[in-house]
Amino acid sequence: MILLDELSEIVGDAFAGEGLDRAYGAVRPADRPDLAQFQCNGALAAAKAQKQNPRALGEKIAASLASHPAFREAGVAGPGFINLTLTDEFLNQKLTALSADEQLGGWRKAAKEKVVMDYGGPNVAKPLHVGHLRAAIIGESLKRVFRFAGDDVIGDVHLGDWGLPMGQLITELQREQPTLPYFDEAFEGPYPDEPPMTLEDLERLYPIASAACKADPQRAEEARQATAALQAGRAGYRALWSHFVATSRAAIEREYADLGVTFDLWKGEADAAPLVDDMAAELRAQGIVETSDGAEIIRVAVEGDKKKIPPLILFKSDGSVLYGTTDLATIVDRKQSLDPDRMLYVVDQRQALHFEQVFRAADRADLFPAERLEHIGFGTMNGKDGKPFKTREGGVLKLRELIDMVTDRARARLSEGGLAAGYSEDETADVARKVGVAALKFADLSNPRISDYVFDLDRFMSFEGKTGPYLLYARVRIRSVLDKAGDVAADGAGAIAIATPEERDLALALLAFGPAIREAHEKRAPHVLCDHAFLLAQAFSKFYAACRIADEENAAVRTSRLTLATVVGRQLDLTLGLLGIEAPQRM
Ligand code: ARG
Repeated sequence: MILLDELSEIVGDAFAGEGLDRAYGAVRPADRPDLAQFQCNGALAAAKAQKQNPRALGEKIAASLASHPAFREAGVAGPGFINLTLTDEFLNQKLTALSADEQLGGWRKAAKEKVVMDYGGPNVAKPLHVGHLRAAIIGESLKRVFRFAGDDVIGDVHLGDWGLPMGQLITELQREQPTLPYFDEAFEGPYPDEPPMTLEDLERLYPIASAACKADPQRAEEARQATAALQAGRAGYRALWSHFVATSRAAIEREYADLGVTFDLWKGEADAAPLVDDMAAELRAQGIVETSDGAEIIRVAVEGDKKKIPPLILFKSDGSVLYGTTDLATIVDRKQSLDPDRMLYVVDQRQALHFEQVFRAADRADLFPAERLEHIGFGTMNGKDGKPFKTREGGVLKLRELIDMVTDRARARLSEGGLAAGYSEDETADVARKVGVAALKFADLSNPRISDYVFDLDRFMSFEGKTGPYLLYARVRIRSVLDKAGDVAADGAGAIAIATPEERDLALALLAFGPAIREAHEKRAPHVLCDHAFLLAQAFSKFYAACRIADEENAAVRTSRLTLATVVGRQLDLTLGLLGIEAPQRM
């Protein structure tokens, strides 16, 4: 059980002893750490409900707690806040249990759920851009947090592989290589196994096609028709499309892997396509599909809506399907093939309306209950001009270029700081990549996800303050302290006996891990774990500055401190791991 819950039970018992609801006993970290470690505000509410004097009630409760072995002090402050401070013995006991726990005091859900996590969402043939960065980073971290808390998570990349860009590409390639068999309707196959184009071709052709379609309605119509033919199953187009998907996917997979992002499923919009017709028939039979201007729609607005929620368009008047249709059919697919308890969509907040429509339609159609479909939205990464980040030339920055950029900057920073000096070229490159990616990921994850943030590489890359590099450096320093000591059990199994204020604060920081996991899970908020990692590293710094560790003379104290340092290192590793951040062994 996590410490806060245990304390809440103890204080809840005291309230119950006065004939009051035990829920009043909820304990939280003190607002004034200079006065106490924890506090309970329940006496105020309880007294109000009972028409009693809050201070008098608080004092009664505090008096009954004072004799409990957990507390060194239980007193009342102000109008009736109960302030609590634990005994060192109690903290030692909790720390010992924490260090023996595989999850180092982490939190586990009582009942696990099967969760589909839809994140990444890159599009075939378009290079990954920074817009897909946040989905990948946040989704990867949430997947890890959910798994750590006990849920069964299936991560699905949900490739964008089925829309108009596919028709644009097909028709553009036809212009360049008109004699390919894929365009010959009379060709009976088999089609070649080797792709007729490279990744570079795709990245070159797509912008040309998309610009041409914008400029020329006739060209756009051609692309639209090719898209419809692809979706209707024209063999040559399907064969060509498979090459687009395979080539693109290989590149996307590599770039995500460099960021430490992986998926269990590489499904896409196209996988839902075969389910669309049956689904539509079912929805029509339910009577929830209406015709409007030749299109088929599902109305999803309800009374009391604060803003207008337009209907979901199931089929356009030309019969083609849109993003909402494939998302609905994907829900059907996931329900049939995985039967999950919940589906989470880690996608840009600017798509909030789309998901509202899809979720309401899924609910109306009895495909899946809306309260178990969640859009986990996030803000944008902006440039210093406050607009979504672009390169100096004004284009979207490719993920590949971004990774190179942070790696180069990290390398420069390392050499300025005299770090990683004398390492082999391979190791230097590895450390630079890890520091660069950590800087980027930590900067991204440490903001509440809904907030926008400004891309500021100098700030992200600093070794001081709340940054990725600071945390990696803190981790490496703990390791070097332990290496110097040499003899402590690697699992930190020595007896812990804290005695100084810095050790006490460090103990409390370690014990805050459980509540941090719980909050990160409940709010789907990785930034809570960033806060935890930072507070833990800071508490360690203060401990390191104030207390002798490896060179402490008293053997028992030395063992206790080395054990503490070991546990901090392990918990920091765990936390960084949950953020999807890899730390070098040394730097
Ligand atoms: N491919 C989409 C985009 O680039 C994101 C897909 C998100 N997931 C979903 N199920 N709609 O905007």
